[in-house]
Amino acid sequence: MLDSDQIREFAERGYVVVPGAIAEDLVAAATRVIDELVDDAPPDPTTQGPHFYFPDSADVPALLGLLTESTAWAGVESLIGAGKVDVPPQVQVALNIPPFSHRPGMHHIDGYPPDADGRPHTFTLLAGVLMSDQLTEDGGNLWVWPGTHRTHAEYFTEHGPDAFFSAAGYPPIELPEPEQITGRAGDLLLAHYLLGHNIGGNVSDHTRRAVYFRVKRTGHGPQWREFLTDPWLDYELP
Ligand SMILES: [Fe+2]
Repeated sequence: MLDSDQIREFAERGYVVVPGAIAEDLVAAATRVIDELVDDAPPDPTTQGPHFYFPDSADVPALLGLLTESTAWAGVESLIGAGKVDVPPQVQVALNIPPFSHRPGMHHIDGYPPDADGRPHTFTLLAGVLMSDQLTEDGGNLWVWPGTHRTHAEYFTEHGPDAFFSAAGYPPIELPEPEQITGRAGDLLLAHYLLGHNIGGNVSDHTRRAVYFRVKRTGHGPQWREFLTDPWLDYELP
């Protein structure tokens, strides 16, 4: 469960970090699965920066358990509504391998390009589990642009939801100063789908690890246009 301050923070800033939401034993079990994924298909030794794995949830129950067996699920339900959340069919394991002296110039939103049927890959919120400590900046942290979930909704209200396609992931909005997500392994990031974000650089000594779930409220799919202009359509905030 999120408390009222955390819910207010999510509503105003588009994201919240919940310290220690995932118990150590769940983090340890998931870490072993990530180790196996990396051992089975190691990144090329020249890789710098992002490297991803996208297993099906059914194949990696210990990764899915970070979301469904921890307090993260109640946290998600306290935003979207109890019993209203679909279990995501896929998991993203996101590595950020140093040295990667990158500083993103701008944000993006996910979901472009669309499927063959024309539907973009929108969702309700991103649930991210930090799988390595990221206590300082420029250690592979995710960058976010606070409040841009509201600015993006204003953009799509003004230009219509089909402006999603011409924007191609980069709606031309005015950006505030970015922030880098910091925290410890086992901390939970909840971020609105419309929050602008991007991959940061990593000048630390360690590969950054995170696990991301793209979470949908049940019934999100056919309502994506309405959701882009009404960012609380999928939510039951108090
Ligand atoms: Fe993204």
